[in-house]
Amino acid sequence: MSAAVITVETQQDLSHKLIIQRPPLGLSLQGRIRVPGDKSISHRALMLGAIAQGETEIQGLLLGEDPRSTASCFQALGAEISELNTELVRVKGIGLGNLQEPVDVLNAGNSGTTLRLMLGLLASHRGRFFTVTGDSSLRSRPMSRVVKPLQQMGAHIWGRKDNSLAPLAIQGQALKPTHYYSPIASAQVKSCILLAGLATEGKTTVTEPALSRDHSERMLRAFGADLSVDPETNSVTITGPAQLYGQKVIVPGDISSAAFWLVAGAIVPGSELVVENVGVNPTRTGILEALELMGADIQLENQREVAGEPVADLRVRSSNLKSCIIAGDIVPRMIDEIPILAVAAVFAQGTTIIRDAAELRVKESDRITVMAQQLNKMGAQVTELPDGMEITGGTPLAGTDVDSHTDHRIAMSLAIAALVATGITTIHRAEAAAISYPGFFQSLTEIIN
Ligand code: S3P
Repeated sequence: MSAAVITVETQQDLSHKLIIQRPPLGLSLQGRIRVPGDKSISHRALMLGAIAQGETEIQGLLLGEDPRSTASCFQALGAEISELNTELVRVKGIGLGNLQEPVDVLNAGNSGTTLRLMLGLLASHRGRFFTVTGDSSLRSRPMSRVVKPLQQMGAHIWGRKDNSLAPLAIQGQALKPTHYYSPIASAQVKSCILLAGLATEGKTTVTEPALSRDHSERMLRAFGADLSVDPETNSVTITGPAQLYGQKVIVPGDISSAAFWLVAGAIVPGSELVVENVGVNPTRTGILEALELMGADIQLENQREVAGEPVADLRVRSSNLKSCIIAGDIVPRMIDEIPILAVAAVFAQGTTIIRDAAELRVKESDRITVMAQQLNKMGAQVTELPDGMEITGGTPLAGTDVDSHTDHRIAMSLAIAALVATGITTIHRAEAAAISYPGFFQSLTEIIN
């Protein structure tokens, strides 16, 4: 077998066109890969480090554009953060309640986590005024999901479209505790409220309809917050005001990034890959369960616990996949992996149905419409549902021009689909991958046989 030809062309508008030419006889994937640090944990380590007392040391931070946005916002708010690298980042915390009024607008770039979590912290900074914004994608994403509960706590927030869209202006207030029943399972909503509760006298509780990722709960506890969890009702309570103390954080590899290799290894015939040092927190492993349901051959090796998070090496070998149904409580535990799961479904026998995933419509792009359109351009049979997709597997894909819509997970999902499509696939605006996975295309080149 000869290797695929992968080229990147920089366009006049500085976007990147990624061209993947699959050799006529196909290809296989072999090797060991280390994915970059977990995005959710990276954001939280920078934020909690900034508001803790003393120094926080972070190993394995994700150097993607999203955590860079968090770092620059918290620097503008007065925290001292050393140069970002994967070895060791030092954050000199300024203590809870001490974020400074910045002289300019805080820009969260493409990152919903930066904007929504930061809002929770800013809202409780009495007497200080902040303005926050983001790129065009983030400015179109719903913010009322965090603005409303914060207003219930007494926050003063203004924004476009009845306070639902960034840019937002926040006049910090002393907040009152609340019990918020979130209509959606969202770790960003939950974390925003818990962070607002940190500085608020009394018990602040969030109840969600299904359990979302629990990295905030784990890290807040590790930093010294008084936090209790009721798994029966999916509720978390924080008792404020808290004192946080700087910690050593070791960030595991991101399972959302590993998912691209797991699906690639499963669908490209004759492949065997090991993805090392991947975080396997049970609130994130829906993708492993879904792929297992589809008949993927994935083994967890060398399972261990690193700084309060479970970690493993994941070995995947190619196998024949079958369709599955994804709905209910598993969805929030694999919400970011649904675009790449859709690619797996295209190569599975039978019709895969994904439901209860309307949240995909308000991610960095409308991931239901965009994935359906782009995969269908390549010859797949994907039908949009209001809250998911119906994917009939087994039709061969042919290379063509596709577009990431500036969404990192779409760019990488399409690159994996291109490995199994005949001919040449051109992915426009592929540079979006650097939001969560700088080095993705380099790793792809290295594992192709
Ligand atoms: C994240 C939570 C999820 C996820 C996002 C990161 C987090 O969003 O999609 O990529 O770090 O809290 P929602 O909370 O909106 O579901």
